[in-house]
Amino acid sequence: MKKHFICKVCGYVALDGKTDKCPVCGKSGVFEEKEDVFKEGGEVLSEAEKKHVPKLSVKKDCQLIDGSVAVRAVIGDIVHPMQAEHLILEVTFYLDNQYLSITKLSAQSLPAAVALVAGGKGAKAQVIAYCNLHGRWFNEIELN
Ligand SMILES: [Fe+2]
Repeated sequence: MKKHFICKVCGYVALDGKTDKCPVCGKSGVFEEKEDVFKEGGEVLSEAEKKHVPKLSVKKDCQLIDGSVAVRAVIGDIVHPMQAEHLILEVTFYLDNQYLSITKLSAQSLPAAVALVAGGKGAKAQVIAYCNLHGRWFNEIELN
């Protein structure tokens, strides 16, 4: 069982283990260590995993800023519903386990988000999607 620190205020997961201050809500002293704060997909995805594990791709030279790389996440292999009672609320991006950005979604959004990074050769991006009913789901991709 894996343990991670999670912010009691906003639910941010500190993949890098830094717990002095939450980079999302800005509060200090708010992390608690918990087991299994997110699920990961296995080699063969179950039906639930297909709807929740972020499907990641990398678009080099995404043209917004010269040389920028887009990390793209779609939730999931079977596109997750976006209804008031069941939806993906947020997608959090990390670069080498450090907080990068967070995209908040609504029932009017598509279950997808993009984060831009500069270059990132050799780095890995991690993504956690948060479903209001089914919790947090993790995936990771190499940027090359
Ligand atoms: Fe769900």
